[in-house]
Amino acid sequence: MASFSNFHMIHHILLIFSSCLLIPTSSQSHPHQPQNHVAFFIFGDSLLDPGNNNYINTTTEDQANFRPYGETFFKYPTGRFSDGRLIPDFIAEYAKLPLIPPYLQPGNHQFTYGANFASGGAGALDEINQGLVVNLNTQLRYFKKVEKHLREKLGDEESKKLLLEAVYLISIGGNDYISPLFRNYSVFQIYSHRQYLDMVMGNLTVVIQEIYQKGGRKFGFVNMGPLGCLPAMKAIKLQQGGAGECMEEATVLVKLHNRVLPEVLQKLGSKLKGFKYSIFDFYTTAKERMDNPSKYGFKEAKIACCGSGPYRGLYSCGGMRGTKEYELCSNVSEYMFFDSFHPTDRVYQQLAELVWSGTHNVIKPYNLKQLFGHSQEEIPCDQFEHLPYTSNVP
Ligand SMILES: *[C@@H]1O[C@H](CO)[C@@H](O)[C@H](O)[C@H]1NC(C)=O
Ligand SMILES: *[C@@H]1O[C@H](CO)[C@@H](O)[C@H](O)[C@H]1NC(C)=O
Ligand SMILES: *[C@@H]1O[C@H](CO)[C@@H](O)[C@H](O)[C@H]1NC(C)=O
Ligand SMILES: *[C@@H]1O[C@H](CO)[C@@H](O)[C@H](O)[C@H]1NC(C)=O
Repeated sequence: MASFSNFHMIHHILLIFSSCLLIPTSSQSHPHQPQNHVAFFIFGDSLLDPGNNNYINTTTEDQANFRPYGETFFKYPTGRFSDGRLIPDFIAEYAKLPLIPPYLQPGNHQFTYGANFASGGAGALDEINQGLVVNLNTQLRYFKKVEKHLREKLGDEESKKLLLEAVYLISIGGNDYISPLFRNYSVFQIYSHRQYLDMVMGNLTVVIQEIYQKGGRKFGFVNMGPLGCLPAMKAIKLQQGGAGECMEEATVLVKLHNRVLPEVLQKLGSKLKGFKYSIFDFYTTAKERMDNPSKYGFKEAKIACCGSGPYRGLYSCGGMRGTKEYELCSNVSEYMFFDSFHPTDRVYQQLAELVWSGTHNVIKPYNLKQLFGHSQEEIPCDQFEHLPYTSNVP
């Protein structure tokens, strides 16, 4: 059965100014640490996954390492759920970092630029696509391994500094909300929407706190995109006898998530000293493009480039997921959706530019350029001195 598990498109700061400003330490840094670079760590689902699922024992439902994925930019299927690059690829470029490869890619031991743990199909809840994806809690475990590795390689001081200055990008929740709507509705007979959402937020909160414990201070979040209006969801709705409208059940969860996420982060911000975060309004920026495609240079915002059935919403792109036949558009640049769930390289590029340097109407209260660039003068010195460090990494 097509599980549609890779779903994901889904998907203020209490600046405590210290009297003590950090003096840039480039001249005295450890030789192993790349100078003038802020590391970039990525957690989440297929929106951000550069191909971690190529290296786990899973099914093609949760993979995109076959043609025509990847054709536009990389010219080969990398495992990214798109025709080309994803948001972290653009951000790495803008931040003058190399591309951050999948954490699980064999031979990947160079973590001074960061690491990407994201996994297509992953949720904040372990039960989502269990055994087939790297769930958020496992991504955290891998991050702790990286932290230990950095400490051994760079020493306590340098690794601490690297993690304090690093930017952490997280996109999670889309699969948690979508997956039950596809295959196990009974979750919502047991939990109310709010109770279910609180479990998602609870697990996300724990992960944020643990990253903070290891030194993480600067977090970027992507809120939930207009999941109900993905070609896959509209196709399902049509099958159920609708008239091609968005799936309201998904939209309800998305809106609830996007209302609660800022509250949860604000609460964390008042508890964790020096915790800085920003939320990118994926919902509004994606919806705006879906409603006015030509304004943004697109011709088709409803039908996916690759797939089959109504809206090409059947998740058959590449012909490797049980259904051999699928359709492929001739000019992917005209499309907003590459497959039934995921945007094209061109959409990601537009969104990444907003994530990087957008104004408060799309990303608040910092854009990633600010999070990457203003680290040194904004982190109070005392946090360098009293960071809790434990050496027992599970
Ligand atoms: C991968 O999963 C399949 C099916 O669940 C199983 O038969 C196989 O033993 C697994 N392989 C490894 C290396 O875990
Ligand atoms: C569906 O979800 C319920 C509640 O979480 C669980 O008890 C049940 O085993 C699930 N069924 C399937 C087929 O996954
Ligand atoms: C995390 O999710 C699990 C279900 O996967 C849930 O039982 C648990 O309560 C959640 N944790 C928090 C802190 O909310
Ligand atoms: C593909 O579409 C883009 C955007 O509409 C357009 O600029 C380009 O010329 C098209 N390419 C071809 C080969 O038609």
